[in-house]
Amino acid sequence: MVTAGIDAGSLTTDAVLLHDGKILAYSIVNTGSQTSRAAERAYQEILEKASMKVSDVAAVVATGYGRRSVLFAGRQVTEITCHGRGAAFLSPQVRTVIDIGGQDSKVIRLDEQGNVIDFLMNDKCAAGTGRFLEVMAQALELPVTVLGDAEKEALQAAEISSMCTVFAESEVVSLIARGVPRAEIIRGLHRAVAERTTALAHRLGLEPAVMMTGGVAKNTGIVSALSEKLGVEIFVPPEPQIVGALGAALVAQGSSSQAFLF
Ligand SMILES: Nc1ncnc2c1ncn2[C@@H]1O[C@H](COP(=O)(O)OP(=O)(O)OP(=O)(O)O)[C@@H](O)[C@H]1O
Ligand SMILES: [Mg+2]
Repeated sequence: MVTAGIDAGSLTTDAVLLHDGKILAYSIVNTGSQTSRAAERAYQEILEKASMKVSDVAAVVATGYGRRSVLFAGRQVTEITCHGRGAAFLSPQVRTVIDIGGQDSKVIRLDEQGNVIDFLMNDKCAAGTGRFLEVMAQALELPVTVLGDAEKEALQAAEISSMCTVFAESEVVSLIARGVPRAEIIRGLHRAVAERTTALAHRLGLEPAVMMTGGVAKNTGIVSALSEKLGVEIFVPPEPQIVGALGAALVAQGSSSQAFLF
């Protein structure tokens, strides 16, 4: 049975095409201003990559912040359930999932069967999210994708005292003006995000094994700062950004009447 999962996130829309537990194709496109268009593009891309047609797909499930705009999906399911599902599928020993996306961060606890038992989410402001890192990367005049590598030369971490995106950005600007090496500023920013995420994880209770999902998991500086603060190893799958879409495609393989707690 071929199914598709679409994760309509605030920054990226991701799609996964699944055939009996095997990923046939995936795509990651920018969401932009029209979620429905991005979802159609992401879906089209996976169909093209797998040389398939819409009629070959038995069911489509949408997740993510913009899931209600994915009109071609038969069902909408929360990101909590889908990230949990995707993570448990990739690694059955995972008990805690940390998803940091563009606009929010979440910590999800799973049981032995991969069902979500509890979660906590920070969606009140950009602090500690991908958006926070994007604003700081812009102030540093660097693409967000190089932050992980760029911090490697740091001998120490600069002190970032505010987690408010607006205040932190002006701190970064004045650190640059004072001649503090960019690598040290970046390490300071990564530590600040890790601290915020650690507080969220400790409020929920952290049980290993821990997996990180979402685009921010591609930032090796964040992963190592978080691993150090939490005192545990963090497993990052080969493509962490598609875990939500993978979970949605897995949900689509189950019965359409299956209910989820979260
Ligand atoms: N190659 C990369 N290297 C480092 N960071 C990356 C990379 N690609 C994406 N990111 C980070 O991932 C973030 C986007 O993550 P993701 O695609 O999971 O967000 P989203 O699902 O759209 O958002 P949300 O779940 O909050 O609605 C970007 O803001 C950026 O910080
Ligand atoms: Mg997301």
